[in-house]
Amino acid sequence: MTTADHIGVFDSGVGGLTVLRELVRALPGKRFVYLGDTARVPYGTKSAETVVKYALGAARVLADRAQLGALVVACNTASAVALDALRSALAVPVFGVIEPGAAAGVAATRVGRVAVLATPATIASRAYEHAIHALDRRVRVFGIACPLFVPLAEAGWVDDDVARLVAERYLHPIVNGTARDVDTVILGCTHYPLLDRVIRRTVGRGRRVVDSASATAADVALALGAVTASRARARAHIEVLVTDRAMGVAETARRFFGDSVGRIARVDL
Ligand code: DGL
Repeated sequence: MTTADHIGVFDSGVGGLTVLRELVRALPGKRFVYLGDTARVPYGTKSAETVVKYALGAARVLADRAQLGALVVACNTASAVALDALRSALAVPVFGVIEPGAAAGVAATRVGRVAVLATPATIASRAYEHAIHALDRRVRVFGIACPLFVPLAEAGWVDDDVARLVAERYLHPIVNGTARDVDTVILGCTHYPLLDRVIRRTVGRGRRVVDSASATAADVALALGAVTASRARARAHIEVLVTDRAMGVAETARRFFGDSVGRIARVDL
C-alpha cells in the first residue's frame, strides 16, 4: 500500500470522529489521518473568513503529515464556507458533509418539511437550504442554530440534565413552535450525533433524525473504489492529531476505535 492511500479527515474537535467512524466502516483497511483543531474549536461561531483560514491550515497540516489520496471535511461549518477554497488548494478529491446530509434529509421526509440543526455559521451560510433545494425545491427548511451543543460534546456532557435542558430550549420550535410540522431533523453539525439520544428524546419518536456521516462515507467509498473482501477484514489504521489538549478527542477516539488509535500527537497549524 502506498502512502497516497491516506484519507485526511478534519474537524474543529471531536465531532468529525462521528464521520471517521463511518468512513472506517465503509473503507476497511484504509489509512486515515484525523486532525481535531482543538486549539481553535469552536468554528461555528466564527466568521466565514476565519473558518476558511483555519480549514486551509488544517488541510495543509494533513497534507504535510501523509500523502493524501482524498480529504474529507468532517465539519459542516468548514464544508459550508471553505469547500471551494479547499478544492482550489488541493490536488486530491475533497468531500464535504453538507450535500450528503441534505440528501439524507430529503430522502427521509414524507411531508416535505425538515429542520436543520447546525452552528450559527452553517445556518448563516444557507448551505443546507441550497443543497436541499437543489434536490427538491418543494421542501421547507427550518434552520436552528445550536452552538452550545458543541462544548457539551467536547466535554462529554451528552446525556445528562444539562444536555436535556439545552436541547429543550433550542428545540422548542420543533416540539411546540414554528417548526412543529417537520417530520425530519438533520443533524447539520458533526458534533451533534454525539448528543443523538437527548436530541431524539426531545424531538419525539415520530420524527426521523438523520446526519451526514454514513451518506458521506458511502460517497467517499463509491468515489475511491469498491471494498474487497480481504480488506473488509483488515484492521483500521488511524492516526489522530490535535492542535492543543486532546480534550474529548482522545476519549472518544478510544471509545470508537479502541487500540487502532495510537498515541495522539500534537501539531501546530
Ligand atoms: N463539527 C463542526 C460542524 O460540523 C464544527 C463545530 C464547531 O466547531 O462549532 O459544524
